[in-house]
Amino acid sequence: ATRHDVRPVRQRLLVVANRLPVSAVRRGEDAWSLEISAGGLVTALLGVNDFEARWIGWAGVNVPDEVGQKALTKALAEKRCIPVFLDEEIVHQYYNGYCNNILWPLFHYLGLPQEDRLATTRSFQSQFAAYKKANQMFADVVNKHYEDGDVVWCHDYHLMFLPKCLKEYNSNMKVGWFLHTPFPSSEIHRTLPSRSELLRSVLAADLVGFHTYDYARHFVSACTRILGLEGTPEGVEDQGKLTRVAAFPIGIDSERFISALKLPKVQEHIKELTERFRGRKVMLGVDRLDMIKGIPQKILAFEKFLEENPLWRDKVVLLQIAVPTRTDVPEYQKLTSQVHEIVGRINGRFGTLTAVPIHHLDRSLDFLGLCALYAVTDVAIVTSLRDGMNLVSYEFVACQDSKRGVLILSEFAGAAQSLGAGAILVNPWNITEVADSIRQALTMSAEEREKRHHHNFDHVTTHTAQEWAEMFVSELNDTVVEAQLRTRQ
Ligand code: ADP
Ligand code: F6P
Repeated sequence: ATRHDVRPVRQRLLVVANRLPVSAVRRGEDAWSLEISAGGLVTALLGVNDFEARWIGWAGVNVPDEVGQKALTKALAEKRCIPVFLDEEIVHQYYNGYCNNILWPLFHYLGLPQEDRLATTRSFQSQFAAYKKANQMFADVVNKHYEDGDVVWCHDYHLMFLPKCLKEYNSNMKVGWFLHTPFPSSEIHRTLPSRSELLRSVLAADLVGFHTYDYARHFVSACTRILGLEGTPEGVEDQGKLTRVAAFPIGIDSERFISALKLPKVQEHIKELTERFRGRKVMLGVDRLDMIKGIPQKILAFEKFLEENPLWRDKVVLLQIAVPTRTDVPEYQKLTSQVHEIVGRINGRFGTLTAVPIHHLDRSLDFLGLCALYAVTDVAIVTSLRDGMNLVSYEFVACQDSKRGVLILSEFAGAAQSLGAGAILVNPWNITEVADSIRQALTMSAEEREKRHHHNFDHVTTHTAQEWAEMFVSELNDTVVEAQLRTRQ
């Protein structure tokens, strides 16, 4: 081999997240097909290419038999994915229960479940036990595939117990943990019965990361106020051991979106959509059908706008693309019926024989279809009641370099801190304010749109998913080296 053939060995990264980037669908006893999973975590991590990465996670399906497990493991290996097999009962208690019925609403300021407190307390205990058990199962798989020098990057609220389990296996493992949701005020976290155990487990990591400085600050406050530990500018200290805590705002692979727009198939689709909605301004919402996304609030604000601006009634259409998610959790089922009911009522009220004001689709769009839709949109509207970051707003901006449409963005999304200067920021709970912002967006001058778009486009194209991952991993490596130096002193 010549000198040029010799490449530096890239550091191996074990990415551990509840959901793998692909979900499996069974096609036969030992036959599987794999589909891209929806969600911000997957979108961001798919944009991270410059690592020798392996994914460890759940494939979103129950596989009770050995034949099926073997075949799925093989199919996933081609995508550098390693499955964690969770049975139905664990999924029910850990994923539907503790993760999505307790931690998710709490971290988004929607509180703990209210109904029948005693029953809740009982199920709380068994759900927390299942949560710990599931985290241990993830740790077992990580430990099996771990090699010296690997970086282990744990993701999200599903795996708060994992750093502790991993360090119990091997205290030299480099372990980072990143939260994709908000971390709430310490007064909210304080209400959680397992508040201390979860904080202590996360603190076993070497580096703990959040999307925004505010979330990091809330986490440090929770550790000082609830655990009585010391908060320092670097993080949290416990008897001389420092856990580094910092903000690492996530981004997208903007180039993937920008280059997709040039494909003939997407151009064709853009033409069709432009023709289809000729004479009407297009407003767009793209969300998982989740209560944190404020979809009913968005639609009610649109109704108010139509009510107060009769001249706009046949000149604007709202396309709401809402992919169903966590459909086994009762709160999500209620939300689906609620949204359908509101959309039906408004379309009945303002629709004509030939057109309706709201097109609501309960489904996922493929990547190229989504790019085309972003590109033809005049106004994108994100009304999350709370949202860790919200990558939909980034994707919209990336696809708007010719149209320069307007982004209406909730001030409670992490993205408000990065795209706030270019977007119209709103309080989604204030329907009158959101209705006014729709009018402002639809009538904004080209000059103003241009100025706002540039601000956001610059941000989205320079703060990418790749850069986010590089910053996190390099900070993790540095943190471990510094800790080793400190212990030697
Ligand atoms: P979250 O992480 O809560 O799902 P984000 O806005 O950060 O929210 O990320 C959502 C991701 O899922 C985006 O990449 C978006 O394109 C994708 N997504 C959401 N809804 C749909 C949909 N209906 N069809 C296709 N993709 C979707
Ligand atoms: O941070 C949001 C998140 O929880 C991500 O972990 C995930 O990508 C997304 O929501 C989708 O949720 P689920 O994996 O429950 O379908």
